[in-house]
Amino acid sequence: MKNIDSYTHTRGESIYLDDISLLQGTLFAACFDSPIAHGKLISIDTGEAEKSKGVVKVLTYKDITGANQIGGIIPDEPLFADHHVHFCGMPIALVLAETDEAARSAVKKIKVEIEPLPVITDPRVAAAQNELIIPPRTFKMGDSAAAFANCDHVFEGSCENNGQEHLYIETQGAYAIPQENGVIRVYSSTQGPTAVQRAVSKVTGLPMHNIEIDVTRLGGGFGGKEDQANTWAALCALATHITKRPVKYSLSRMEDMRMTGKRHPYSSDFKIGLNKNLKIVAFETTTYQNAGAAADLSPAVMERTLFHCTNTYFIPNVKATAYSCRTHLPPNTAFRGFGGPQGMFIIESAIAKAADALGVDACTIQQKNLLNTGDELPYGQKVVSEAHECWAKASELYDLAAIQNKLKDFNATNPLYKKGIAVMPICFGISFTNTLMNQARALVHVYTDGSVIVSTGAVEMGQGVNTKMLQVVAQTFSINPARIKVNSTNTYRIANTSPTAASATADLNGKATLIACTAILERIKTVAAAELNAAVEDISIKDEFVFVKENKTELDWNKLVFTTYNKRVSLSEHGHYSTPGIFFDKTTEKGHPFAYHVYGTSITEVTVDCIRGTYEIDAVKLVHDFGSSMNPTIDKGQIEGGLVQGIGWMTMEEIVYDSNGKLRSNALSTYKVPDIYSAPKEISIDFLQTQKDNLAIFRSKAVGEPPLMYGIGAFFALRNAIKNFNAAATPAFDAPMTPEKVLMNLYGQNNQEEDPAVAVLKQGQSLT
Ligand code: MTE
Ligand code: HPA
Ligand code: MOS
Repeated sequence: MKNIDSYTHTRGESIYLDDISLLQGTLFAACFDSPIAHGKLISIDTGEAEKSKGVVKVLTYKDITGANQIGGIIPDEPLFADHHVHFCGMPIALVLAETDEAARSAVKKIKVEIEPLPVITDPRVAAAQNELIIPPRTFKMGDSAAAFANCDHVFEGSCENNGQEHLYIETQGAYAIPQENGVIRVYSSTQGPTAVQRAVSKVTGLPMHNIEIDVTRLGGGFGGKEDQANTWAALCALATHITKRPVKYSLSRMEDMRMTGKRHPYSSDFKIGLNKNLKIVAFETTTYQNAGAAADLSPAVMERTLFHCTNTYFIPNVKATAYSCRTHLPPNTAFRGFGGPQGMFIIESAIAKAADALGVDACTIQQKNLLNTGDELPYGQKVVSEAHECWAKASELYDLAAIQNKLKDFNATNPLYKKGIAVMPICFGISFTNTLMNQARALVHVYTDGSVIVSTGAVEMGQGVNTKMLQVVAQTFSINPARIKVNSTNTYRIANTSPTAASATADLNGKATLIACTAILERIKTVAAAELNAAVEDISIKDEFVFVKENKTELDWNKLVFTTYNKRVSLSEHGHYSTPGIFFDKTTEKGHPFAYHVYGTSITEVTVDCIRGTYEIDAVKLVHDFGSSMNPTIDKGQIEGGLVQGIGWMTMEEIVYDSNGKLRSNALSTYKVPDIYSAPKEISIDFLQTQKDNLAIFRSKAVGEPPLMYGIGAFFALRNAIKNFNAAATPAFDAPMTPEKVLMNLYGQNNQEEDPAVAVLKQGQSLT
């Protein structure tokens, strides 16, 4: 089935926040944000701005009617700076004006006096000063210290990963509209309507039932709108509460890049021990997460880093410690993979380090240590593994040996272009790591004309979840999909929603929808049984007709629905689902936190231009564990998008803050994301099709985040290509591997005495 949005998307008719028709009297908001990363806020002068043409009001922390607080996990984040500023981009004042232009030009007239304080941008510096968001956590299994003593090989090293800008096509924003009796409706570009509702309630001081949040769809979220949509919604709603007028704020790209948090950079140390058979016996890591100035989702992200720091390998002795470090950057936040990719980068770096030293291919070590069914992960969960199946299928289907041979031939005959490959197996846990969040609700109404409307807590952000919800209804009732509509996500229809995140949305909301539809189906089947004088167990509906046993009857969906209504039987149901069997005990750091794991293996091939340091991703070929996909087209789209986003993070996207905490890569001229030219020239995706029972909706495994981690393969493939040019090079595990870094590594200090390029020239070989 096609994505139900494809028609309006391609015609430009889909409605995003900025497309909502404006009500007369709408005010436009614009934020004055801190130009200083850390300091004492001495004074705010809004006088000139208030006198500016078209300006109605300027709000600061003094105008807040509820609490100046938007922290989700920990209440440590003021909406407006009050006595201190904690990061460049922190909101200080909000201008409300009759036009967008008036608001933005008045912002420039605001003056502040800030006494600068020392700025920390490095998480290790923060940790040394005990600037921690939460106490450190350690996941432990076996006895790593004792195990290292018995290892044949032990290697130590460190690695760095940078952040990543979400770069959703639709920037952050909100539109608040006053209703009667103090109710405020907020259209918000958010993954978490309930999080927005809570934040608005807290900041305005209004009860949650006064706040209606409505979301039609997002032009992308990628985690950046899981918590950080709250700010803009709270600002607009506060302004509406005070002025009694509709207030809209849609951020410009540069405002968005400057004021919002990103993927967390991490700085990590590792130690890996292997026996002579290349089995990984022990692994230790200490990792420092750059949380930014407030907690936001950092504690949860840090937790997932610990969950995934052994990726898809069985390691009997593990000790992993993580620090969430407070710095003076915008609070970093959820980003596809939610700390998992950072954890996997550490173990992959450790394996690469060991492979370098032992003179073996990393993939030899990787393959020998893949998880088997029944193996226990450091947090106590025993897995149902598809790791070997994915690896074996990828290796056979794409002929890994032939790829390796072709690469050797190419490298032997091309002095100045070198190819590299890397295999990247993944394992990603599905469920919110915070067990209580694994619940969802759905509201299904069947109308008397046989059409159906479904509302859930799921937010459509391009990942196709609405199409999947519609498929659940269509399959359960066995009716034509054209009869079904998916409603906007609205806190008045569905309450207490978990955000659309953790790749679990289709599972959680799909199961709630299934429960609601099944309840309605049971009732209408009972009506059909009475009508047809048959036993309920013999009744079924297939393609809109009622069957008694295998016999098709005259009774169709339309007639049956109308009869059900006439009999005064309910055609509506509210379904509730919570994932069974999951738990986690933070005091022991053990449990069974995930409903299941998703596996896969990718093979990445790259070519490096060894004169320029530039490179191309030739191909990524992968086998992914879909379970049995309910929508292969959508799921393939998720793989392609996630993969390319992961490659961007690992190769070209480079966030730069200067030592004063100012974002230098603050526009698309200085921050490069993959385009069609830098995407892999070939992407091959194959399905590992399984029929095993699992907790996925219709056994169709979650697919949103896991493919991003295939992108890590690009880093290691580039690293291998560099080593194929200069065998003595030991490129640092410092992502992203930008062309500049490739060039430095090709001719780095660790090279042979003579520059390899010069050596090649001396042999009289051509540069092209
Ligand atoms: N795909 C698109 N097109 N746009 C997005 O914003 N977000 C990703 C992923 N795929 C995203 C996306 C992230 S971070 C998550 S957690 C999942 O989608 C969330 O949706 P799901 O739970 O329905 O997979
Ligand atoms: N994943 C994504 N988002 C989340 C999670 C998680 O595990 N926990 C809280 N928010
Ligand atoms: Mo995704 S990072 O869980 O929104």
